[in-house]
Amino acid sequence: MAHSGEVTKAVVPVAGLGTRFLPATKVTPKVMMPVVDKPAIQYVVEEAASAGLSDVLLITGEGQQSITDHFERAYDLEARLTARGNQKALAQVRAPSELAKVSYVRQDSPRGLGHAVLCAAEHVGDEPFAVLLGDDLIGKRDDLLARMIAARKRYGGSIVALMEVPHEQISSYGCAAFKPTDDPDIVAVTDLIEKPDASEAPSNWIVIGRYVCDPSIFAVLRETPAGRGGEIQLTDALRTLAIADRTRAGVDGGGVHGVLFRGRRYDTGNKQDFLRTTVEFACSRPDLAPEFVSWLREYLETLPQT
Ligand code: UTP
Repeated sequence: MAHSGEVTKAVVPVAGLGTRFLPATKVTPKVMMPVVDKPAIQYVVEEAASAGLSDVLLITGEGQQSITDHFERAYDLEARLTARGNQKALAQVRAPSELAKVSYVRQDSPRGLGHAVLCAAEHVGDEPFAVLLGDDLIGKRDDLLARMIAARKRYGGSIVALMEVPHEQISSYGCAAFKPTDDPDIVAVTDLIEKPDASEAPSNWIVIGRYVCDPSIFAVLRETPAGRGGEIQLTDALRTLAIADRTRAGVDGGGVHGVLFRGRRYDTGNKQDFLRTTVEFACSRPDLAPEFVSWLREYLETLPQT
Protein backbone atom coordinates (compact mmCIF):
# COMPACT_ATOMS: atom_id res chain seq x y z
CA MET A 1 0.00 0.00 0.00
CA ALA A 2 2.66 2.46 1.06
CA HIS A 3 4.17 3.02 -2.40
CA SER A 4 0.92 3.17 -4.40
CA GLY A 5 -0.70 6.25 -5.81
CA GLU A 6 0.45 9.54 -7.28
CA VAL A 7 0.26 12.70 -5.18
CA THR A 8 -2.27 14.94 -6.94
CA LYS A 9 -4.02 16.73 -4.07
CA ALA A 10 -2.91 19.52 -1.77
CA VAL A 11 -4.59 20.26 1.55
CA VAL A 12 -4.03 23.78 2.86
CA PRO A 13 -5.28 24.40 6.41
CA VAL A 14 -6.03 28.08 7.03
CA ALA A 15 -8.61 27.86 9.83
CA GLY A 16 -6.35 28.95 12.71
CA LEU A 17 -7.28 32.05 14.69
CA GLY A 18 -4.10 33.99 13.89
CA THR A 19 -3.97 35.44 17.41
CA ARG A 20 -0.36 36.59 16.95
CA PHE A 21 -1.57 39.05 14.34
CA LEU A 22 -4.49 40.66 16.10
CA PRO A 23 -6.07 43.11 15.51
CA ALA A 24 -5.29 42.68 11.78
CA THR A 25 -6.82 39.19 11.89
CA LYS A 26 -10.02 40.23 13.65
CA VAL A 27 -11.84 40.43 10.30
CA THR A 28 -9.14 39.57 7.71
CA PRO A 29 -7.86 35.99 7.74
CA LYS A 30 -4.13 35.81 8.44
CA VAL A 31 -3.32 34.23 5.07
CA MET A 32 -5.05 37.11 3.26
CA MET A 33 -2.49 39.59 4.57
CA PRO A 34 -0.53 40.82 1.55
CA VAL A 35 3.15 40.09 1.09
CA VAL A 36 3.94 43.04 -1.23
CA ASP A 37 0.83 42.83 -3.44
CA LYS A 38 -0.41 39.25 -3.16
CA PRO A 39 -2.10 37.56 -0.20
CA ALA A 40 0.22 35.00 1.42
CA ILE A 41 -2.15 32.16 0.47
CA GLN A 42 -1.74 32.90 -3.25
CA TYR A 43 2.00 32.16 -3.06
CA VAL A 44 1.14 28.82 -1.39
CA VAL A 45 -1.45 27.82 -4.00
CA GLU A 46 1.03 28.85 -6.74
CA GLU A 47 3.62 26.58 -5.13
CA ALA A 48 1.17 23.64 -5.06
CA ALA A 49 0.20 24.23 -8.70
CA SER A 50 3.81 24.42 -9.87
CA ALA A 51 4.51 21.07 -8.16
CA GLY A 52 1.71 19.61 -10.31
CA LEU A 53 -0.96 19.56 -7.58
CA SER A 54 -3.99 20.87 -9.43
CA ASP A 55 -6.55 19.87 -6.79
CA VAL A 56 -6.27 22.19 -3.78
CA LEU A 57 -8.53 21.81 -0.75
CA LEU A 58 -8.56 24.71 1.70
CA ILE A 59 -9.59 23.93 5.28
CA THR A 60 -11.29 27.15 6.28
CA GLY A 61 -12.91 28.48 9.44
CA GLU A 62 -15.63 30.92 10.34
CA GLY A 63 -15.55 34.29 8.61
CA GLN A 64 -12.99 33.24 5.99
CA GLN A 65 -15.04 33.55 2.83
CA SER A 66 -12.60 36.12 1.46
CA ILE A 67 -10.04 33.31 1.06
CA THR A 68 -12.26 31.15 -1.14
CA ASP A 69 -13.54 34.24 -3.00
CA HIS A 70 -9.95 35.08 -3.89
CA PHE A 71 -9.72 31.88 -5.94
CA GLU A 72 -13.11 32.35 -7.67
CA ARG A 73 -13.87 34.43 -10.76
CA ALA A 74 -14.92 38.03 -9.93
CA TYR A 75 -17.30 38.67 -12.83
CA ASP A 76 -18.37 42.25 -11.95
CA LEU A 77 -14.83 43.43 -11.40
CA GLU A 78 -13.63 41.66 -14.57
CA ALA A 79 -16.43 43.32 -16.59
CA ARG A 80 -15.47 46.76 -15.28
CA LEU A 81 -11.80 46.24 -16.04
CA THR A 82 -12.67 44.95 -19.53
CA ALA A 83 -14.81 48.06 -20.13
CA ARG A 84 -11.82 50.22 -19.15
CA GLY A 85 -9.51 48.20 -21.38
CA ASN A 86 -7.19 47.51 -18.42
CA GLN A 87 -5.74 44.17 -19.55
CA LYS A 88 -2.96 44.11 -16.97
CA ALA A 89 -5.37 44.45 -14.03
CA LEU A 90 -7.73 41.95 -15.64
CA ALA A 91 -4.94 39.35 -15.81
CA GLN A 92 -4.04 40.00 -12.16
CA VAL A 93 -7.66 39.51 -11.09
CA ARG A 94 -8.07 36.30 -13.09
CA ALA A 95 -4.74 34.67 -12.22
CA PRO A 96 -5.72 33.21 -8.80
CA SER A 97 -8.88 31.61 -10.26
CA GLU A 98 -6.83 29.91 -12.98
CA LEU A 99 -4.12 28.37 -10.78
CA ALA A 100 -5.82 25.15 -9.71
CA LYS A 101 -9.16 23.58 -8.92
CA VAL A 102 -9.60 25.12 -5.48
CA SER A 103 -12.34 23.85 -3.17
CA TYR A 104 -12.88 24.10 0.54
CA VAL A 105 -14.23 22.33 3.56
CA ARG A 106 -15.08 24.00 6.86
CA GLN A 107 -13.43 23.06 10.14
CA ASP A 108 -16.21 23.62 12.68
CA SER A 109 -13.82 25.07 15.25
CA PRO A 110 -10.03 25.37 15.35
CA ARG A 111 -9.23 22.16 17.22
CA GLY A 112 -5.68 21.91 15.95
CA LEU A 113 -3.73 21.29 12.76
CA GLY A 114 -4.26 17.51 13.05
CA HIS A 115 -8.01 18.04 13.28
CA ALA A 116 -7.88 20.40 10.29
CA VAL A 117 -6.11 17.73 8.21
CA LEU A 118 -8.68 15.13 9.32
CA CYS A 119 -11.39 17.38 7.82
CA ALA A 120 -9.85 16.54 4.40
CA ALA A 121 -10.37 12.76 4.76
CA GLU A 122 -13.43 12.48 2.54
CA HIS A 123 -12.01 14.69 -0.23
CA VAL A 124 -8.63 12.94 -0.23
CA GLY A 125 -9.82 9.31 -0.02
CA ASP A 126 -7.18 6.58 -0.14
CA GLU A 127 -4.38 8.53 -1.82
CA PRO A 128 -1.21 10.16 -0.57
CA PHE A 129 -1.59 13.94 -0.38
CA ALA A 130 0.44 17.05 0.33
CA VAL A 131 -0.22 19.44 3.22
CA LEU A 132 0.97 23.03 2.86
CA LEU A 133 0.57 25.41 5.78
CA GLY A 134 -0.99 28.60 4.51
CA ASP A 135 1.33 30.91 6.41
CA ASP A 136 4.64 29.23 5.57
CA LEU A 137 6.17 30.45 2.30
CA ILE A 138 8.98 28.61 0.52
CA GLY A 139 11.41 30.43 -1.77
CA LYS A 140 10.33 30.19 -5.41
CA ARG A 141 13.59 28.66 -6.57
CA ASP A 142 13.51 25.91 -3.92
CA ASP A 143 11.68 22.89 -5.35
CA LEU A 144 10.93 21.47 -1.91
CA LEU A 145 7.50 20.02 -2.68
CA ALA A 146 8.73 18.27 -5.83
CA ARG A 147 11.58 16.72 -3.81
CA MET A 148 9.11 15.55 -1.15
CA ILE A 149 6.82 13.99 -3.76
CA ALA A 150 9.84 12.20 -5.28
CA ALA A 151 10.84 10.97 -1.78
CA ARG A 152 7.33 9.59 -1.26
CA LYS A 153 7.62 7.73 -4.58
CA ARG A 154 10.89 6.19 -3.53
CA TYR A 155 10.25 5.42 0.15
CA GLY A 156 6.44 5.38 0.51
CA GLY A 157 4.89 6.39 3.83
CA SER A 158 4.82 10.03 4.90
CA ILE A 159 7.40 12.74 4.26
CA VAL A 160 8.21 15.77 6.40
CA ALA A 161 10.38 18.77 5.48
CA LEU A 162 13.23 19.40 7.92
CA MET A 163 15.18 22.62 8.31
CA GLU A 164 18.19 23.26 10.54
CA VAL A 165 17.98 26.02 13.17
CA PRO A 166 20.54 27.33 15.66
CA HIS A 167 20.68 24.98 18.66
CA GLU A 168 19.42 27.65 21.09
CA GLN A 169 16.17 28.00 19.10
CA ILE A 170 15.27 24.32 19.01
CA SER A 171 12.98 24.49 22.07
CA SER A 172 10.51 26.64 20.10
CA TYR A 173 9.87 23.99 17.44
CA GLY A 174 9.00 20.39 16.65
CA CYS A 175 12.32 18.55 16.40
CA ALA A 176 13.14 15.33 14.52
CA ALA A 177 15.33 12.39 15.51
CA PHE A 178 16.55 10.50 12.45
CA LYS A 179 18.95 8.05 10.82
CA PRO A 180 20.70 8.59 7.50
CA THR A 181 19.61 6.85 4.29
CA ASP A 182 21.83 6.26 1.26
CA ASP A 183 20.53 9.58 -0.08
CA PRO A 184 22.38 12.44 1.66
CA ASP A 185 19.32 14.72 1.49
CA ILE A 186 16.80 12.23 2.88
CA VAL A 187 16.67 10.77 6.40
CA ALA A 188 14.55 8.10 8.11
CA VAL A 189 12.65 9.81 10.93
CA THR A 190 12.66 7.75 14.15
CA ASP A 191 10.91 10.23 16.46
CA LEU A 192 9.40 13.71 16.57
CA ILE A 193 9.65 15.72 19.75
CA GLU A 194 7.61 18.87 20.23
CA LYS A 195 9.52 21.82 21.74
CA PRO A 196 12.32 19.81 23.41
CA ASP A 197 14.70 21.21 25.98
CA ALA A 198 17.85 22.22 24.08
CA SER A 199 19.87 19.79 26.22
CA GLU A 200 17.60 16.88 25.21
CA ALA A 201 17.04 17.70 21.54
CA PRO A 202 18.17 14.80 19.30
CA SER A 203 19.04 17.20 16.42
CA ASN A 204 18.83 20.83 15.33
CA TRP A 205 16.38 19.97 12.55
CA ILE A 206 12.79 21.22 12.84
CA VAL A 207 9.62 20.21 11.04
CA ILE A 208 8.37 23.02 8.76
CA GLY A 209 5.00 23.51 7.07
CA ARG A 210 5.18 21.09 4.15
CA TYR A 211 4.17 17.43 4.40
CA VAL A 212 3.31 14.53 2.14
CA CYS A 213 1.03 12.22 4.11
CA ASP A 214 0.13 8.61 3.58
CA PRO A 215 -3.68 8.24 3.79
CA SER A 216 -3.17 6.00 6.85
CA ILE A 217 -2.65 9.27 8.75
CA PHE A 218 -6.45 9.71 8.89
CA ALA A 219 -7.00 6.55 10.97
CA VAL A 220 -4.16 7.62 13.26
CA LEU A 221 -5.56 11.16 13.62
CA ARG A 222 -8.96 9.75 14.62
CA GLU A 223 -7.23 8.01 17.51
CA THR A 224 -4.91 10.90 18.41
CA PRO A 225 -5.95 12.63 21.65
CA ALA A 226 -5.69 16.39 22.06
CA GLY A 227 -2.10 17.25 22.94
CA ARG A 228 -0.30 20.55 23.48
CA GLY A 229 -2.70 23.47 23.87
CA GLY A 230 -5.69 21.10 23.94
CA GLU A 231 -5.34 20.73 20.15
CA ILE A 232 -5.06 17.62 17.98
CA GLN A 233 -1.52 17.88 16.62
CA LEU A 234 -0.43 16.62 13.19
CA THR A 235 3.06 16.07 14.62
CA ASP A 236 1.65 13.62 17.20
CA ALA A 237 0.06 11.51 14.44
CA LEU A 238 3.28 11.56 12.38
CA ARG A 239 5.18 10.55 15.49
CA THR A 240 2.87 7.54 15.87
CA LEU A 241 3.63 6.56 12.26
CA ALA A 242 7.39 7.04 12.73
CA ILE A 243 7.52 5.04 15.95
CA ALA A 244 5.18 2.30 14.66
CA ASP A 245 7.51 1.78 11.71
CA ARG A 246 10.58 1.65 13.96
CA THR A 247 9.03 -0.78 16.46
CA ARG A 248 6.95 -2.69 13.87
CA ALA A 249 3.87 -1.94 16.01
CA GLY A 250 0.51 -2.70 14.34
CA VAL A 251 0.06 0.55 12.28
CA ASP A 252 0.75 0.09 8.56
CA GLY A 253 1.64 3.63 7.58
CA GLY A 254 4.95 3.04 5.84
CA GLY A 255 7.02 5.14 8.27
CA VAL A 256 8.19 8.73 7.97
CA HIS A 257 11.11 10.16 6.00
CA GLY A 258 12.48 13.67 6.14
CA VAL A 259 13.69 15.78 3.21
CA LEU A 260 16.48 18.08 4.38
CA PHE A 261 15.71 21.61 3.25
CA ARG A 262 18.45 24.22 2.99
CA GLY A 263 16.52 26.89 1.08
CA ARG A 264 14.48 29.91 2.13
CA ARG A 265 11.42 29.57 4.33
CA TYR A 266 9.28 32.47 5.54
CA ASP A 267 6.92 32.03 8.48
CA THR A 268 4.46 34.81 7.76
CA GLY A 269 2.41 33.91 10.86
CA ASN A 270 5.14 35.49 12.96
CA LYS A 271 5.57 39.28 13.00
CA GLN A 272 9.36 39.44 12.69
CA ASP A 273 9.37 37.00 9.78
CA PHE A 274 6.41 38.71 8.15
CA LEU A 275 8.30 42.01 8.07
CA ARG A 276 11.47 40.35 6.74
CA THR A 277 9.48 38.51 4.08
CA THR A 278 7.87 41.71 2.86
CA VAL A 279 11.22 43.50 2.61
CA GLU A 280 13.00 40.53 1.00
CA PHE A 281 10.24 39.93 -1.56
CA ALA A 282 10.13 43.65 -2.42
CA CYS A 283 13.92 43.69 -2.87
CA SER A 284 13.72 40.80 -5.34
CA ARG A 285 10.98 42.34 -7.49
CA PRO A 286 12.40 43.92 -10.65
CA ASP A 287 9.49 46.38 -10.82
CA LEU A 288 9.99 47.62 -7.25
CA ALA A 289 13.58 46.90 -6.25
CA PRO A 290 15.50 49.80 -7.86
CA GLU A 291 13.51 52.49 -6.06
CA PHE A 292 12.76 50.52 -2.90
CA VAL A 293 16.32 49.32 -2.28
CA SER A 294 17.80 52.79 -2.65
CA TRP A 295 15.20 54.17 -0.22
CA LEU A 296 15.93 51.30 2.18
CA ARG A 297 19.69 52.01 2.14
CA GLU A 298 19.07 55.68 2.90
CA TYR A 299 16.57 54.84 5.59
CA LEU A 300 18.95 52.42 7.33
CA GLU A 301 21.56 55.19 7.47
CA THR A 302 19.13 57.32 9.50
CA LEU A 303 18.62 54.63 12.15
CA PRO A 304 20.62 54.81 15.36
CA GLN A 305 23.19 51.97 15.76
CA THR A 306 21.96 49.41 18.30
P1 UTP B 1 -0.69 28.11 13.83
O1 UTP B 1 -0.83 27.73 15.24
O2 UTP B 1 0.62 28.58 13.33
O3 UTP B 1 -1.70 29.23 13.38
O4 UTP B 1 -1.23 26.92 12.94
P2 UTP B 1 -2.82 30.02 14.12
O5 UTP B 1 -3.48 29.22 15.17
O6 UTP B 1 -3.68 30.55 13.03
O7 UTP B 1 -1.99 31.27 14.66
P3 UTP B 1 -1.75 31.87 16.11
O8 UTP B 1 -0.76 30.93 16.75
O9 UTP B 1 -3.09 31.92 16.81
O10 UTP B 1 -1.19 33.23 15.82
C1 UTP B 1 -0.53 26.42 11.80
C2 UTP B 1 -1.46 26.31 10.61
O11 UTP B 1 -2.53 25.43 10.87
C3 UTP B 1 -3.78 26.06 10.63
C4 UTP B 1 -3.50 27.56 10.73
O12 UTP B 1 -4.41 28.29 9.94
C5 UTP B 1 -2.07 27.65 10.21
O13 UTP B 1 -2.04 27.71 8.79
N1 UTP B 1 -4.74 25.58 11.65
C6 UTP B 1 -4.38 25.53 12.94
C7 UTP B 1 -6.00 25.17 11.24
O14 UTP B 1 -6.35 25.20 10.04
N2 UTP B 1 -6.87 24.71 12.19
C8 UTP B 1 -6.54 24.66 13.49
O15 UTP B 1 -7.39 24.22 14.30
C9 UTP B 1 -5.27 25.08 13.88
